[in-house]
Amino acid sequence: MNQDELKQAVAKSAIDYISPRLNTSSVIGVGTGSTANCFIDFLAAIRNDFDGAVASSEATAERLKSHGIPVYELNSTADLEFYVDGADEVNEQLELIKGGGGALTREKIVAEVAQTFICIADESKKVDILGDFPLPLEVLPMARSHVGREIVKLGGDPVYRDAFTTDNGNIIIDVYNLDLSRPIQVEERLNQIVGVVTNGLFARRPADLLLLGTKTGVRTLK
Ligand code: 5RP
Repeated sequence: MNQDELKQAVAKSAIDYISPRLNTSSVIGVGTGSTANCFIDFLAAIRNDFDGAVASSEATAERLKSHGIPVYELNSTADLEFYVDGADEVNEQLELIKGGGGALTREKIVAEVAQTFICIADESKKVDILGDFPLPLEVLPMARSHVGREIVKLGGDPVYRDAFTTDNGNIIIDVYNLDLSRPIQVEERLNQIVGVVTNGLFARRPADLLLLGTKTGVRTLK
């Protein structure tokens, strides 16, 4: 199977996992990216089995709506049983790097609220230690230089993501070469930098379930 087929396979597995657990008042949190897009397309086939979705980005909201799936504001939903999303990297503890698509802030909020966070990823995303993928930071535009200097003090190499504005009107700084061997500590440290809206480490709230697409089938890791 090629990478696209692995993405399809994990997206279908997520549907198989949540489908028997849904009812007509269920609202599902939906992530962003090419793997999440596969999930959205499968979700369309069961759209009468649940109420609607909360989207982690404008792009996801548009795709959900194009399938006739109602999209709700997070503030108007009482309960979010599942959040399904991809990742840029995932380790054995199901800690993640996310934000390659720049949607990390809304993704982190929806993941935080959801009872069960299901990560769907092909095997290229599985690593022993996070950090080969540059760590995205969503940053308020006026804090760009300040945040860059703080990242250098921590040993990272900040790179401004050119010509990119997040759904929240902010910029992205991608951080290379930061030691992420202790992800929770690094996540908490980065949260303290004034001007950083969100960092792409999902370690304080990791995924609960990983559906990993491999050449020999979809593996489930908890
Ligand atoms: C977007 C994300 C995505 O989940 C991540 O980039 C993975 O995307 P893809 O499924 O296209 O590989 O965090 O902000």
